Amino acid sequence: MMTSHTRRRILQGATLAAATGVAEGFGLGRSAPAARAATAGTAATGRGAGTAATGKGAGKGALPFLEGAFAPVTEELTAFDLKVTGRLPRDLDGRYLRTGPNALGLEDVRAHHWMLGDGMVHGVRLRDGRAEWYRNRWVRSSRVAKQLGEKYPGEVPPDDFACNTHVIPYKGRVLALQEGGPLPYELDGELNTVRPYDFRSTLRGAFTAHTKYDPVADELHAVTYYPTWDHVRHLMIDRTGRVARTTEVPVADAPMMHDFALTQKYVVIVDVPITFDAEAAEAGAVVPYVWNDEHPMRVGVLPRAGGTARWFEVDPMYYSHTLNAYDQGDTVVVDFSSMPAPFYAAGRGSGGPSATGAPALDRWTIDLRAGRVGSVRLDDRPQEFPRVNEARVSRRHRFGYTASAAEMWRAYETVDGVPPDDKFTNCLVKHDLLRGTRQVHRFPKGAAASEPVFVPRRGARDEDDGYIVAYVNDPDRGATDLVVLSAQDFTGRPLARVQLPGRVPLGFHGSWVADA
Ligand SMILES: [Fe+2]
Repeated sequence: MMTSHTRRRILQGATLAAATGVAEGFGLGRSAPAARAATAGTAATGRGAGTAATGKGAGKGALPFLEGAFAPVTEELTAFDLKVTGRLPRDLDGRYLRTGPNALGLEDVRAHHWMLGDGMVHGVRLRDGRAEWYRNRWVRSSRVAKQLGEKYPGEVPPDDFACNTHVIPYKGRVLALQEGGPLPYELDGELNTVRPYDFRSTLRGAFTAHTKYDPVADELHAVTYYPTWDHVRHLMIDRTGRVARTTEVPVADAPMMHDFALTQKYVVIVDVPITFDAEAAEAGAVVPYVWNDEHPMRVGVLPRAGGTARWFEVDPMYYSHTLNAYDQGDTVVVDFSSMPAPFYAAGRGSGGPSATGAPALDRWTIDLRAGRVGSVRLDDRPQEFPRVNEARVSRRHRFGYTASAAEMWRAYETVDGVPPDDKFTNCLVKHDLLRGTRQVHRFPKGAAASEPVFVPRRGARDEDDGYIVAYVNDPDRGATDLVVLSAQDFTGRPLARVQLPGRVPLGFHGSWVADA
């Protein structure tokens, strides 16, 4: 394996230096003067992937989201002809991309929040049964470009931020996404940043990290929010790649709407009791969103063609991620992951979110005729990052896939209580929601299993005929593998493990980008 013709070493242990245009990621447009002084370009050491694989980036102490499996990596690597154990299916022809926060040039680690780390995309190129390359690249926001000693091309957009939450394919492009303000960034096939992307000059204002793409209608849907708005927006981006319709939906208190759901008929908007706090923003809170007991939790059903949302009050919780949703007669079915109330998305001094309990998988059945929302827990095993076969988005699904990473929930619960070693494990879960059964693929302690992405087998007809790909750490190697499972033999041995040259920090979301 040949590694690294591009290698940078920027961060250094506990001296990580400040930076963060923190509030910018949430649309405040606030500058962070101290941050701008950062120590960019502390020159490449050539110490190689081992540095990045140690996971000791920020030193021990009170910052769980900068340590261990979360520790930012310090270098951009390029590696070719990766070692593979097992056999890579030959029809896996494309790139698996996943992103997450990877703080660059921190001066004050205690002022940092995990959700505001500069986005870094980790990608693996598969073709003809081989793993051709691995690359990890920071998204070049203006701040990141400056930190790296590079020139930012063109004009810097408002609310500029190195999008860190999702990376998706869209009409031959790759887009890195962020909620609450920043424009998406377009990346090229080798993860280099091209430019901010505004859907052919039609996107005005904030976007979302969790779009929904209906492959039959060829429509990309988004629900977007911004701290100063008195509404949220449903955007429909049509087959020409332009924002073709914007529906403003009035909401109070500027809630943080991380995700939503889409069916064939409806957009399901989830109004959560985590709302913008101007006082916290004034006081310099890095993520000025707080749990708000006064804000009722509601689910809104908006006709997909636009119009007025019909709202239903539901028990407070944090609606985290949509698995999928669909229409069933006059009922809307939504499967999603949730965290119990109260949930502190902004955390309480731990540098990341804080939970008061484990995440789990739930289902709402919104009966539009009776005007009622039924709620059922599909699985109380701690789990998150639900995904579905993307061809089923907005249509009835049978299967879903989730991940559980002990390291993630341990960090989330740092503030509230007991490290959850006994009840959490590292695993991927396949749900058969028709039969109400599930299969669990376990990984060892320290594996930090991340979001499972379904890739259809070439010529597949059945919904689960394909592969699950996910980044999973190999604690023995001190680095991350791309694990490939057979979705129909979920508990069987992985079909293949691709050995990456470094560690992929626990992060957020990603996609399979098939070659055309
Ligand atoms: Fe998310």
